Amino acid sequence: MGVEIGVEGLTKSFGRQVIWQDVSLTLPAGEISVMLGPSGTGKSVFLKTLVGLLKPDRGSIMIQGRDLTTLREHDLYEVRKLFGVLFQDGALFGSMSLYDNIAFPLREHTKKSEKDVKDIVLEKMDMVGLIGSESKLPGEISGGMRKRAGLARALVLDPEIILFDEPDSGLDPVRSAYLNQLIIDLNDAIQATFLIVTHDVNTARSVPDNIGLLYHRHLAMFGPREMLLSSEEPVVRQFLNAQRQGPIGMAEEKDADELAQEEAEGYEMPPLPPIPLQLLTSEGKARSTQREPGEWCRSNGVTPPPGSFESQNAAHSAPTATETDEAARGDAQADQPLEPTR
Ligand SMILES: Nc1ncnc2c1ncn2[C@@H]1O[C@H](COP(=O)(O)OP(=O)(O)OP(=O)(O)O)[C@@H](O)[C@H]1O
Ligand SMILES: [Mg+2]
Repeated sequence: MGVEIGVEGLTKSFGRQVIWQDVSLTLPAGEISVMLGPSGTGKSVFLKTLVGLLKPDRGSIMIQGRDLTTLREHDLYEVRKLFGVLFQDGALFGSMSLYDNIAFPLREHTKKSEKDVKDIVLEKMDMVGLIGSESKLPGEISGGMRKRAGLARALVLDPEIILFDEPDSGLDPVRSAYLNQLIIDLNDAIQATFLIVTHDVNTARSVPDNIGLLYHRHLAMFGPREMLLSSEEPVVRQFLNAQRQGPIGMAEEKDADELAQEEAEGYEMPPLPPIPLQLLTSEGKARSTQREPGEWCRSNGVTPPPGSFESQNAAHSAPTATETDEAARGDAQADQPLEPTR
């Protein structure tokens, strides 16, 4: 049923470059969390640290009562079996066919017969839409296909924790929507703990139970989806609403002059857009860890932005043709698109 990961005071630097410091958060067992952040803020470094591939300078990572940061290589190897990781570049072996790449963890870590291996590999390849490409080499397929092959490989060992580094980059919008649905269905089926790094704001708004934002060498915020989607905190608000105005600039932080100019122009942030409904499973039901729409807001006395959770009934009844299209876009709030501002 997935395992909880408790991160406390985690700090990572390379030489004199501090990537992030004092990161503390809990990834609740069986829930889906998304990590956002401008490019270069250390999201990939965070995932690699969680799985023990990079050593932090300070802090702890608790999994099943053990601190990953202090484990010896042998024990770390055991704990790593809990993880399935989809790396940003797919990280496939270039000289192996897709089939062999995906079969690799099974042949390496289990004593399954080739017949069982075949069943599992083909099941996962089917899941990610790669049937027919078994004998292709990674160099012969598109970036999006490599990504899906990496995902299939991350799944074969039935992991308790799955880390996805930008599973949707390089995918066209329809495939990306299918992938979001796949992530929800997968979580419902295997109930593992998911952490997804993405740049896709629509994914971040509608898929996860929790959202985190890495910015300016620290964790700006981490918590339930509704907490961040109703937050007035400028960095969180700018990022989750994909706006140009706010503290984040092209080179991460805007300088004082740029911010002063925005202020002089009398720019005011537009009102918060409605909070969309969280994506349901393809059968239209909520996952076991899914919270009731509006629950966090209610229990914290926060008034959600007007129009939030409105298409609730539509999302639960049998989909019409248009709704199916909307679902295919993975956009629970398709009737209220995020307006790009200015
Ligand atoms: N092995 C390494 N040695 C030295 N510096 C590194 C190493 N890996 C990453 N970095 C540095 O850490 C910083 C964060 O990199 P990271 O790849 O985690 O960013 P990111 O948030 O994943 O960005 P993107 O959204 O573009 O993928 C970068 O400045 C990068 O150069
Ligand atoms: Mg990255």
